[in-house]
Amino acid sequence: MSLTKRSWAEPFKIKMVELLKMTTPEQREKAIKEAGHNTFLLKSEDVYIDLLTDSGTSAMSDQQWSGLMLGDEAYAGSKNFYTLEKAVKKFYGYKHLIPTHQGRGAENILSQVMIKKGDIVPGNMYFTTTRLHQELAGGTFVDVIIDEAHDSENLHPFKGNIDLNKLQALIKKHGAKKIPYVCVAVTVNLAGGQPVSMQNLKELRALTQEHGIKIMLDMTRIAENAYFIQQHEKGYSKKSIAAIVKEICSYTDGATFSGKKDALVNIGGFLAVNDQEIFEEASNLVVVYEGLHTYGGLAGRDMEAMAIGIEESVQDEHMKARIGQVLYLGEKMQEAEIPIVLPIGGHGIFIDAKRFLPHLKQDQFPAQTLAAALYVDSGVRTMERGIVSAGRNAKTGDHYYPKLELVRLTIPRRVYTQAHMDVIAESVERVYQDRKKIRGLKMVYEPKYLRFFQARFSKL
Ligand code: F0G
Repeated sequence: MSLTKRSWAEPFKIKMVELLKMTTPEQREKAIKEAGHNTFLLKSEDVYIDLLTDSGTSAMSDQQWSGLMLGDEAYAGSKNFYTLEKAVKKFYGYKHLIPTHQGRGAENILSQVMIKKGDIVPGNMYFTTTRLHQELAGGTFVDVIIDEAHDSENLHPFKGNIDLNKLQALIKKHGAKKIPYVCVAVTVNLAGGQPVSMQNLKELRALTQEHGIKIMLDMTRIAENAYFIQQHEKGYSKKSIAAIVKEICSYTDGATFSGKKDALVNIGGFLAVNDQEIFEEASNLVVVYEGLHTYGGLAGRDMEAMAIGIEESVQDEHMKARIGQVLYLGEKMQEAEIPIVLPIGGHGIFIDAKRFLPHLKQDQFPAQTLAAALYVDSGVRTMERGIVSAGRNAKTGDHYYPKLELVRLTIPRRVYTQAHMDVIAESVERVYQDRKKIRGLKMVYEPKYLRFFQARFSKL
């Protein structure tokens, strides 16, 4: 054994555990059939390892749990609002805070305030709820992410980057007045948790400033993005995650945030802006949809826990362990030659279902099919991020056919152990061996909005 080797482990120990129910393959066959082959419709009780999402599923620290006891549940002016406002200023640098019940609440308010009918909203790949709110406000989302993002095998280290030529062409075509803001996500969820580089953000700032266009960040996984910048971008290896996070925010005018990811809480979000006028309009609108501007749909205790979570999320050791665990699982999959999105992203492993199940056409829902098969094999619950998530074009009524047809194995923060990661990798390998036997699905029920949540399928 090499004496120079130094393994690292999580910077926490476990104080409380939640017992899991073990099921048989027969029970799981029955459960997935009853759920219409949609993992969103499974009962969580029937799930062994839950990789559906990293949203609201992380483990809070003892500090956060104690924070819950400090909840000031006053209707107006709760003490916890001011703690959260202070954390947002300190760690992100934004001037004004509007709490919301979660990220999409902030997306709604921002879209209603900033987007007019006929506007164009460029962004680095769509996210489901974000795009829908932009559309409901009368805007049209246009994808300006670099082409490499759509190729699961391309090894570009910053596949979340904005293609400035695409953006420039869009400005030329529609005029800057039609573009209320550029929506930049860090990291890019549907590209596989891929980061944006600081260089790209700086160049984007320069270009948008020339045209008087604002930049609004979807900063849901900003600390994870900062980790990739620290690891892979020149000039950042000695900077702390906290400093990098703050620098990212400094190139933008505001942000929507789902606290359910980076900030390690089960519920919560916010809109933060620098512009006084936007703030006033947004804090007026928030009382219509969320709650008073000092609680925005949250209990005081939730705001306290989120403020503490924000501080924990920017600790270097935390992020090393968080992304280290995702990398560990990803490397196991690579060893087994499972087709996954590379480079390995921030919040999970994304299996390329088109390459995993090449015998299925995209409208036979390969990713949906694979998610159901993995559940039956081991009780591991994953999520489709392909044609079902992409939805339909409102004008033509056709499916959107995204290039990426992925199954997302999303890792909640501080919840599962390395042994869980081993079980997951073994299950994926087993299903891969038997992949030729897997048949596709047809959709038998399709809801109008965000269909992936509630659609039902049957086997072909
Ligand atoms: N933006 C991104 C990049 C997200 O990943 C999410 C949620 C939201 C906004 C909306 O936030 O859920 O608090 O309303 N993503 C979850 C997921 C649902 O599973 O990826 P929310």
